[in-house]
Amino acid sequence: MAKIGPSLMCADMGNLKDSVNRLDNGKVDFYHFDVMDGSFVPNFTMGPDMIKTLRPYSATPFDVHLMIQEPERYIDLFADAGADMISVHAEATIHLQRTLQSIRNRGLKAGVALNPSTPLNVLDYVWDTVDYVVLMTVNPGFAGQKFIPLTFDKIAQLKELITQKGLDIEIQVDGNISYDTIPKVLEKGADMLVCGTSSLFKKDKSLEQALVELHDFLN
Ligand code: DX5
Ligand code: ZN
Repeated sequence: MAKIGPSLMCADMGNLKDSVNRLDNGKVDFYHFDVMDGSFVPNFTMGPDMIKTLRPYSATPFDVHLMIQEPERYIDLFADAGADMISVHAEATIHLQRTLQSIRNRGLKAGVALNPSTPLNVLDYVWDTVDYVVLMTVNPGFAGQKFIPLTFDKIAQLKELITQKGLDIEIQVDGNISYDTIPKVLEKGADMLVCGTSSLFKKDKSLEQALVELHDFLN
């Protein structure tokens, strides 16, 4: 069953606690926090204090996507803030295996995030230290972008590798996950959907209505 993960960078920043409460009432599987440093990606979003602030208001898993250079510097900071799972970009850390191990050492789930053009073979020597893989289906940094079609096959190839190796690794897809792209990413093997402006945070629909429609569409 596909997991729904609201991308909180797309939520109403002035009413985040209210949005999280309303989303919890409508049932979601994880919250996706996009952290950006203006260097790895040309944008800034939220930091550890946002996570710390929201932590007491929800028991739903907090998934922190670090779109930052040298993420190894900040694993403890985000773990202390209340993250349950942290993904780091393979392109942003020289010592990927050590960084993933440091996430696991904090008792969190460790994820590797890959930009659309990054090949899957960067995973070759970390399969035993990964709990989930984030496949960027847009170039990271902004909401509202268009899905990159070649990533469909990348999802299928990753699913094939995971199945062949008999691994318990989830595939998270992040970027323009919409009513058009959801059927295909699921067919290719995606497990976790990062839901932003393309499926959940709509100008013309309440959060409750959009979430009910998304649940109906997935069932
Ligand atoms: C890209 C962002 C977006 C966002 C989802 O870095 O991570 O994927 O969460 O927003 P939409 O649905 O507009 O792509
Ligand atoms: Zn993300």
